[in-house]
Amino acid sequence: MKVALLGCGVVGKEVRRILDEREDVEIVSILVKDEKEIDDERMTTSFEELLNKDDMDIVVECMGGIEPAFSYVKKAMLHHKHIVTSNKKMLANHYLELSKLAKENQVSLRYEASVGGGIPWIHEMHRVQRIDKIQRFYGIMNGTTNYILTQFEEGESFEKALKNAQMNGFAEQDPTDDIDGYDVRYKCMLSAITSFHIYLEEESIPVYGIRNISDKEMKYANQKNQVIKLMGNGYDEEGNYSIYVIPTLLPKTHPLSNVKNETNGLFMKSTTLSESGYIGKGAGGTPTAHAVVQDVLSIPSLEDDFIQGATNALTHTGRFYIRMQELDNHCAFISETINENTILSKEISLQTLYDYTKGNTNILFVMEVLQ
Ligand SMILES: NC(=O)c1ccc[n+]([C@@H]2O[C@H](COP(=O)([O-])OP(=O)(O)OC[C@H]3O[C@@H](n4cnc5c(N)ncnc54)[C@H](OP(=O)(O)O)[C@@H]3O)[C@@H](O)[C@H]2O)c1
Repeated sequence: MKVALLGCGVVGKEVRRILDEREDVEIVSILVKDEKEIDDERMTTSFEELLNKDDMDIVVECMGGIEPAFSYVKKAMLHHKHIVTSNKKMLANHYLELSKLAKENQVSLRYEASVGGGIPWIHEMHRVQRIDKIQRFYGIMNGTTNYILTQFEEGESFEKALKNAQMNGFAEQDPTDDIDGYDVRYKCMLSAITSFHIYLEEESIPVYGIRNISDKEMKYANQKNQVIKLMGNGYDEEGNYSIYVIPTLLPKTHPLSNVKNETNGLFMKSTTLSESGYIGKGAGGTPTAHAVVQDVLSIPSLEDDFIQGATNALTHTGRFYIRMQELDNHCAFISETINENTILSKEISLQTLYDYTKGNTNILFVMEVLQ
C-alpha cells in the first residue's frame, strides 16, 4: 500500500515513524506547509503534486482544522483515494458529504484516531455490532478537562490546573473547545454515527462545559463521597436519541471515577455483552498515530458506516445539579435546594433541562447526578 501524509506535526510525525519501520506500507509523499520544514525528499508544499503521485492508494490527513483539510480530503476521494483522518472537527462538520463521496467513489473513510486517541473505540463499536445492538455509549472523552478536574479535585485552583495542562501540552492556548465541551461534542457525533448510524446536527446536541465550575461543586462532590467528570453521552432508547455532553457527579465506586488526569475512559452498553469499555491514552502523538496506522492497515477489509439523519429527541431522564446566579423559586422541578443559589432537580427529561437552561443567563453550572 502507498500512502500520502497530510501534515507532519505531533501525530503526523509519529505516523511517519511507525510506517517507515514497516515493509507492507510505504509513505510516498508528505505535505508540509512551509518550504523551511522540508527535511525529507518525499516532502512537498504542493497538494496537487502529492495527489498525482503514481500508485498512491491512501491519504492520511493529520493537519487538523476544517480548511483546507476538508477540501483536500474531498479532492482525494474524487481521485479514488481511501481516507484516514484523525481530524474530529472537520469530520463531525462534514461527515454527510464525505460519507456520500466515499460511497460514490468506492473508497473508505476511516477515523479511529478522532475519538479516544489510541483507544480502539471505533473498531470495538464495529466489532460489538457484529452481534449486538449498541444501546448506550458514555465516557470521559477529553484528556484536557479530565486533567483539570483531577488537579482541581486534588486542591489546585481551576486557573492553575488549566495553566498546568497548557504547560504539560494537554491544553491548547485557546482552551475553549476543551473546557466548553465542544471537543467532546464532536466525539459524541462520531460515536453516534458509528454506534447508532445517525447523523445529528451539532447544534442539536446540548453541551454543558466546565468553565464555570467552582469550589462549591467540589465541596458538594466531596460531601457526597463522589467525583465530577465531564462526560459525553449517547442513548438509543427505542429509536429516541439523547446525545449530550455534561459534567457528571459519579459515585467513587463507578469505574470512571478512578480515570484520572489525561486518561480517557470509554464505555458502551449493548444487548448481549452489556457494559464493556476501555481505559487508555486518549491523546498524544504515539497512541494517536497507533490508531491512524491501525486504520491504514485495515483499509482493504472494513465496511464503512451506513448512516441516516435523525432527531436528537432528548427523552433520556436524569437528575441534575443546577447552580444559578440567583435562585429561581418558580423553577417547576426542584427536588431539593442545596444552598442559596443551587438546586437538585427531580427526575426530568434532558429536553426539559435543555429548554430551561438554553440561553438562560441565570444558569452558571449544570451537572448530571448519577444515581
Ligand atoms: N495531538 C493529539 O494528541 C491528537 C489526538 C487525537 C486527534 N488529534 C487530531 O489530529 C490532528 C492533528 O493534530 P496534531 O496534534 O498533530 O496537530 P499539529 O501538531 O498542529 O500538527 C498539524 C500539522 O499539520 C500542518 N499543517 C497545517 N495546515 C497545513 C497545510 N495547509 N498544509 C500542510 N501542512 C499543514 C501543521 O503545520 P504548521 O505547524 O506549520 O501549521 C502541523 O505540522 C488534529 O485534527 C487533532 O484534532 C490529535
